[in-house]
Amino acid sequence: MTADSLFDFMRSQRYTSLRIDHDRNEGTFRWSAAREWGEGMDWSTYGQSSDMMASGEWFDDERVLEAIASSGTKPHASAVMDLMTQGRHERLELVLDGGPDIRFLAGIHSTVQGPPAGGIRRHPRTQAEIAVIADILNLGRGMSFKDAAAMIPNGGCKLGVHSSLPFEDRDERFYGFLGYCIDRSDAFTGPDMGFSLQDADRIRQYTHNIVGGTSRTGSGGATGVTAGWGVFLGMEETLKVQGKEGMKGIRVAIQGVGELGAPLVEHLLEAGAQVVAADIAPEAMEARLLPIERRIGRKVTRVHADQILGIDCDILAPCAIGGVIGADTVSTLCCSMIVGGANNQLDARSKQQEIAMAAAVAGRGILFVPDFIVNAGGVIQGKMEHVRAEHFRLEDARAETGRIVPGNVRDILVAAKNLGITPLEAAYRKFEPIVYG
Ligand code: PHE
Repeated sequence: MTADSLFDFMRSQRYTSLRIDHDRNEGTFRWSAAREWGEGMDWSTYGQSSDMMASGEWFDDERVLEAIASSGTKPHASAVMDLMTQGRHERLELVLDGGPDIRFLAGIHSTVQGPPAGGIRRHPRTQAEIAVIADILNLGRGMSFKDAAAMIPNGGCKLGVHSSLPFEDRDERFYGFLGYCIDRSDAFTGPDMGFSLQDADRIRQYTHNIVGGTSRTGSGGATGVTAGWGVFLGMEETLKVQGKEGMKGIRVAIQGVGELGAPLVEHLLEAGAQVVAADIAPEAMEARLLPIERRIGRKVTRVHADQILGIDCDILAPCAIGGVIGADTVSTLCCSMIVGGANNQLDARSKQQEIAMAAAVAGRGILFVPDFIVNAGGVIQGKMEHVRAEHFRLEDARAETGRIVPGNVRDILVAAKNLGITPLEAAYRKFEPIVYG
């Protein structure tokens, strides 16, 4: 075992779950762990068999901390608690399947507004565990604010799987285990990076707390469609606040033409914008762009993925990974505004770092519209599907997004201008009382 992995530590102790509760007001932590199942656990019967959780052995804070200390994992455990302190997170829970070593993480940032909502992601095993935990926690924090901005009665979380399992190795045990873990986290979720709509379909056989599968199973489809629509509306509103009407001739650079980027490109072309796009997977991008260009009769300019952030444009739209606006990239930006769909676009691990980065962007004369304000359409759709099930209609999610996203963008941009602060700070001022109660 390595000293920088809580999952390795869990395996060495035969723990199936490890939970860290943080009281953000008191600044105190409570660790707990359990041995709930053995190696032969058959997750493919989750939801059907009632005697799955026959027995369990529980360990309190003192016992777990003792074991951590004697295993040499203490510095790593302290680093995790530091992250939770910085981001004011409520709970981190790790669960191990007991069989092929499937590592599930739930980063629950806040439940003040209700059970948490947030997507599920996959991180390759080559990535260090601390980086995975930092990513999950950060994304979960973003979700609390996004869910507040989306006006849904949910807290925020992000779920993750730290695994390099190739697609063909994902069997019923894998999907059954994830169904169990999602239910256990009390969250509702949807496929995020590293999970496909087909994965969501498979997990749905075990839990109804996942949305965003294919319509084949009666699911509402990719939530990126509505998220992309919301980003488009957010761009329009940002221009309007600056006294500019319409998208015609506006040059927009899109980083990432995926589930969210592709619908965004389509709305932009339709509205007459000039679109420049790049993706780390150029063939996949072609497959998405060609039908859109054909349908609308207008072209997108392709550039190399390394060039997109520095492209001369009016609006830069990061729509892929997070952390792309950082100390090393901010000086190379050549845009007037940043309005994009990716989560956590600013490279930061806490609100303070994020605000500092937003100030650096503002210092370059660039208007940064907070990601959790503009990309809330995805969770708006997800919530509707979760509540309405077979009565869900995509048009309703679009309409709701149209009611919520532009209003938030306007409020925050106007407040920022009046108060002489960045839009990010204005957004925190508006939504912190909701998120933290
Ligand atoms: N993963 C989406 C996002 O990052 C939100 C979402 C949450 C979608 C839950 C569906 C279900 O915004």
